[in-house]
Order: sequence, then C-alpha cells, then structure tokens
Amino acid sequence: MDTKVFIMEDSNIDINGINKCGDIIKKGGIVAFPTETVYGLGGNALDSSAVRKIFEAKGRPQDNPLIIHVNNFNIENLVEEVPKVAKELMKRFFPGPLTIILKKKPIVPMETSAGLETIGIRMPDNEIALKLIEESGVPIAAPSANISGKPSPTDVLTCIKDLKGKVEGILGGSSSKVGVESTIIDCTVEPPCVLRPGGITLEQLKEVDNSIYVDPAIMEKPKADFKPKAPGMKYRHYAPKAPVKIIKGDLQKTIEKINEMVQNYIDNNKTVGIIATDETKALYKSGEIISLGSRNNMNDIAKNLFSTLRAFDQIEVDVILSEAFSEEGIGLAIMNRLNKSAGFHIIEI
Ligand code: TXA
Ligand code: MG
Repeated sequence: MDTKVFIMEDSNIDINGINKCGDIIKKGGIVAFPTETVYGLGGNALDSSAVRKIFEAKGRPQDNPLIIHVNNFNIENLVEEVPKVAKELMKRFFPGPLTIILKKKPIVPMETSAGLETIGIRMPDNEIALKLIEESGVPIAAPSANISGKPSPTDVLTCIKDLKGKVEGILGGSSSKVGVESTIIDCTVEPPCVLRPGGITLEQLKEVDNSIYVDPAIMEKPKADFKPKAPGMKYRHYAPKAPVKIIKGDLQKTIEKINEMVQNYIDNNKTVGIIATDETKALYKSGEIISLGSRNNMNDIAKNLFSTLRAFDQIEVDVILSEAFSEEGIGLAIMNRLNKSAGFHIIEI
C-alpha cells in the first residue's frame, strides 16, 4: 500500500495535509496522527470496515476495544447517558489525556467496542488531532499507532517505522508532550474506577470526586485466568526487543545492584542497556546508559519513557535494566508501563 506522509510542527499546521488525511478517513481509510499522549492510528469509528483495517494494520487482538476521539462535547449520539460525574470530568479535563468509559449507543459498531456494550470517549489536547477530526467529519476510533505489543510511538518517525506500507496516511506533528497514554476511567460503575493510569493523575481525578479509585488489579502481575475490565491490560505491552528487568528499592542500593548485574552480563559477553536518570547516570560504571530526565520532573520521565525503550531496540542490547520510580502522581502511569514492558520482572532489593 502507498502511504502518504505529511509532516508538520504542532506550532505550524499545514491545513492541506490535514485535509488530505481527513479525506482518507472520510472514505474509510486509516491514518496515523499525533495526540498529546502518544500517536494514534485512526479510522471512522462508525464504519466497521475501517475499524477492521486498524486491527489488521496493528496485528491487534480482536477482543481489545478502541477509544473514540471527538472534537466537541456533543457525544449524545454515541453514548446512552452521561452521568453527572462524567460531565464534570469532561468539563474539567477535556481536551486532555482522559478517556471516559460510557454505555454505547447501537450506532457504534461492535467492531469498535470489541463486543462490549461500553465505549471509551476522549478529546485529545492537540490542534492537529482536533482539526483532523473536524476535517474527517466523523468520530475517530484510534488505538496507539504501534504494532501490537511494542512501546507506543511518541514521534512521527516511529510511526513511519511501524506502519509505512500498512496504512493510507501518516500525519506527523511534534513529539507527544505527555508521552504515556490517557487515563481510562469507567463511569458506568459507582464509584467510578480507573482502569488504566495515565496523563491525568488519580490525585487530579479525586479533586472532582473523592470516591474515584484505581482498580487494584492493574499494578499486579496478571494471573493466568485474569479477566481485566480494560481488555488491553492483559496483553504483554510496551515491550522492546530485549527483556527488561526493574530493580526496585533504595536508590543507592539500586545503583550498586545494577553495577553488579552489568558486570555479570559483560563477563558473559552480553550487552546491557540501563534506564537511568540525570541524578544517577554518572554513577554507572559501564553499559549503554540513557537518562529519562531528572527525578525532580516526573513529567519528563513519562515523556521520554517509550522513546527510550525504542532506542534500546536501535542499539540492540541483550538486556535492559531499569531504575524504579515512585508511584505517586504521573509515577503510577510510569510504573504501570514499565512493569508491563518488563513482564513484571521486578527485582526487589
Ligand atoms: O492516549 C490514548 O488513550 C491513546 C491515544 C492514541 O489516544 N490511545 C490508546 O489506545 O492508548 P489503545 O488502544 O492503545 O489503548 C486503549 C485501552 C485498551 O487497554 C483497551 O482495552 C481499553 O483502552 N478500552 C477501550 N475501550 C474500553 C471499554 N469500553 N472498556 C474498557 N476498556 C476499554
Ligand atoms: Mg496501545
């Protein structure tokens, strides 16, 4: 398939490129596009054949529903009812990195919701994404624009690597400013429950409704018979080519442990990647060291996480060792993604 690529900056939009991609979506095609969280792969959410193309291009399991991206608050045509708390969350956090699960109307095909009676709705905080929805004239169903199982793309070059030849269009903007996906909150249950931590923190959500809580299952290693409420959470995700191991505990001891492990790998002719921070990077004796940023700026750590996991694919290390982070604020999303990329291989010290 010939993939049309349009690259621009968020600050300097090429409306012609967005128009062309809107046309592709209008005609039932699929397009990768930027959002503030990660890049998405979008098609008409109300067209089951467009949605099937998305699953095919990504190699996505059929039981994993897509999020519907909208550019305005008139969602009554898509969902049965919008509870008061959902209205408040939308008012406070749309546009932004929050997806709200609501009961869907029959107009939303079962392909989009993967057989569920509910659907996730989100309004991205990105000019290009919002214009693309406007130009296509339809709500856009979009998972992250990676091949299933890989870390989500946060820049256009990664989208091109994963999807060129598999989709009709790729629309590039700047790098994603949040870097981890949206927070998913189920508003069909009382109290509302967070199914995936993300760009909007639990602390922020609780300011709207203090009874909101995080489904405890999401930070645990899934058991064999685990049926998560967000079907996607049971799959291996965010995985670079090399296995990832997280070393968790006192930071000083973590550094010592990582140095010791690296030496062991080197003695066995293995190359090692280290996920470090600005505060610790100088303290590692060998290995391919990449800093996620300063521990004083957890938003930067989130922003750089997926691109760092992908960078180790380029360097072709045999194993990746990572420091752990606090689970407060955006840290909960960071550790959720890191735990999953490591298949919950956590070494507690
Ligand atoms: O930030 C984001 O949300 C990005 C950008 C592109 O918008 N999208 C994204 O989509 O992360 P995806 O498909 O990679 O992840 C969607 C997650 C999956 O874990 C899926 O199972 C869950 O949302 N999900 C979607 N609809 C659901 C529903 N009705 N009930 C429960 N979980 C749902
Ligand atoms: Mg994804």
